[in-house]
Amino acid sequence: MEITIPSGLTQFPVLFLLLIFLFHPISAVASTQELLKGFTATPDSSISSFQPLLSDSLGNYSLGFLRVDRTQLALAIIHVPSQEQLWIAGKSPLARWSSQTRLSFNGSLVISDSHTGVLWSSYTDGYRVRLSNTSNLLIETMGDTSLILWQSFDSPYNTLMENQIFTSAMTLVSSNGLYSMKLGPDFIGFYVNFIDNSDPGHLYYQHNPMEAKARVLKDHGPIQAMLSPDGFLGMYQNGSTPVDVQPFSTFQQPGTGSRRLRLEPDGNLIGYYWTRSSWVVDFKQISDLCDLPSSCGPYGLCQPGKGCSCVDNRTAYSSGGCGTSGGDFCGKKYGVLRRTGVELSNKEIMAYTIMSSLEKCELMCEEKCTCWGAVYSNTSGFCYTIDYPIQTVVEVLDVTKAGYFKVRVGAGKDNKVVGLWVGLGVLCGLVLLLGGVFLYKRERRGVKGYVEEEGVNGGVGPYKNLGSESFKSIELSER
Ligand SMILES: *[C@@H]1O[C@H](CO)[C@@H](O)[C@H](O)[C@H]1NC(C)=O
Ligand SMILES: *[C@@H]1O[C@H](CO)[C@@H](O)[C@H](O)[C@H]1NC(C)=O
Ligand SMILES: *[C@@H]1O[C@H](CO)[C@@H](O)[C@H](O)[C@H]1NC(C)=O
Ligand SMILES: *[C@@H]1O[C@H](CO)[C@@H](O)[C@H](O)[C@H]1NC(C)=O
Ligand SMILES: *[C@@H]1O[C@H](CO)[C@@H](O)[C@H](O)[C@H]1NC(C)=O
Ligand SMILES: *[C@@H]1O[C@H](CO)[C@@H](O)[C@H](O)[C@H]1NC(C)=O
Repeated sequence: MEITIPSGLTQFPVLFLLLIFLFHPISAVASTQELLKGFTATPDSSISSFQPLLSDSLGNYSLGFLRVDRTQLALAIIHVPSQEQLWIAGKSPLARWSSQTRLSFNGSLVISDSHTGVLWSSYTDGYRVRLSNTSNLLIETMGDTSLILWQSFDSPYNTLMENQIFTSAMTLVSSNGLYSMKLGPDFIGFYVNFIDNSDPGHLYYQHNPMEAKARVLKDHGPIQAMLSPDGFLGMYQNGSTPVDVQPFSTFQQPGTGSRRLRLEPDGNLIGYYWTRSSWVVDFKQISDLCDLPSSCGPYGLCQPGKGCSCVDNRTAYSSGGCGTSGGDFCGKKYGVLRRTGVELSNKEIMAYTIMSSLEKCELMCEEKCTCWGAVYSNTSGFCYTIDYPIQTVVEVLDVTKAGYFKVRVGAGKDNKVVGLWVGLGVLCGLVLLLGGVFLYKRERRGVKGYVEEEGVNGGVGPYKNLGSESFKSIELSER
């Protein structure tokens, strides 16, 4: 990038410096539009959030180094005006934000660390790297009719962009690593991974095609999904006519390149439309909050149209949920919580056994230590056993539906004991601190300085998506 200096300006050094200062962020964004063999870059220690390396022709998107949790680095693509993060190269482990880390292009785009070696590679033998005007990172061969050897659209993170083809070989993973979206033989499936190492996890929502115009046929190949520039999520099989269309509220509104879909940290798939100044929501795969698997957190009770409370009516709801749910109950003592007028949000897609009574349904769960609870309908006799840590259940008016939930014992007491010790600790600390202040006045400056420094370091950058939450995600998704 070159900046030409009007000769007259050098006579006004202050004005010149001011101009450089003013234009610096813009020139940083207008980074190069292609990377050729021999390109290398290392992270700049003075950058606190994003270091752009490659931009698309319109300047809407940028590939660069994204700082994660202050010390780590992710190769990411962001939408420049909103700073929304759209793609990340690889999963964990992330590189370090240090001069030892290098991005290079020698035919392959490679992230390497001089100590640990190659961390991520595109494994290609290409001629150049380019970013398309819909944020697709491309590695191409030489020539006018260059072939695409590799594209970031083939390995999505949590986001789908316009015309990005989502196949049954791909997975979207939410930034916290809990939720994933995958295609089934004839449906879009949404999975939650409450227990480690369960792949793909527990199916909590499924979208089946309406099949109004065309049908998914058994032996006509796998289905695909695509976000259309016309404003719908289409499902396709062996052809360009969609077998299913989910229109957005901005359906057929003009403006190519203005849409994205993201699997959110709450497990919903949300569509966004760019209005030239902000993203507005124009689609929600799961429109009712209570249909999300953990809308009110562990042991939460979702009351349609009202909000959240707790399964245990003696507990007051707080945003973190109503208790902790963790591993199984094998070899552990547990308490039992019962509540009538509850059901599971995803009961349509859950397996059940028919039981003649609530007691028999409960007994089935009681006998299995990997069962977290059961929900029974007295009218149908359906008994659903819950084989994952209890999340949110839905309140219904029908009192013949009842729930049985195992709860950890002693969790509440433990918290109180911990709280007491923390309280004592704080008190002791305070006494010591006051004593110190009294004895050494100079010490006071030190304490103040420390607080100030912490304020600076603890400052959160503009990349909300890559807060600690999504950093966790990157770690989690590896498992
Ligand atoms: C590019 O660099 C990587 C890492 O140093 C190396 O493993 C790879 O063989 C190189 N590829 C080519 C085509 O030279
Ligand atoms: C974006 O790129 C496509 C294909 O390269 C091109 O047809 C289209 O005109 C571009 N859009 C804009 C707004 O430049
Ligand atoms: C696509 O559909 C045609 C008929 O409509 C069929 O002959 C062909 O085998 C299908 N392709 C695949 C990959 O299933
Ligand atoms: C892309 O850039 C064009 C031209 O500046 C602008 O009109 C459009 O809104 C941008 N799109 C997005 C998604 O930022
Ligand atoms: C809580 O639930 C129990 C049993 O379901 C019931 O007996 C009790 O009245 C309820 N308490 C309140 C405050 O609603
Ligand atoms: C369940 O159904 C049986 C028979 O239909 C009835 O006798 C019983 O009272 C019901 N129990 C509850 C809790 O609704």
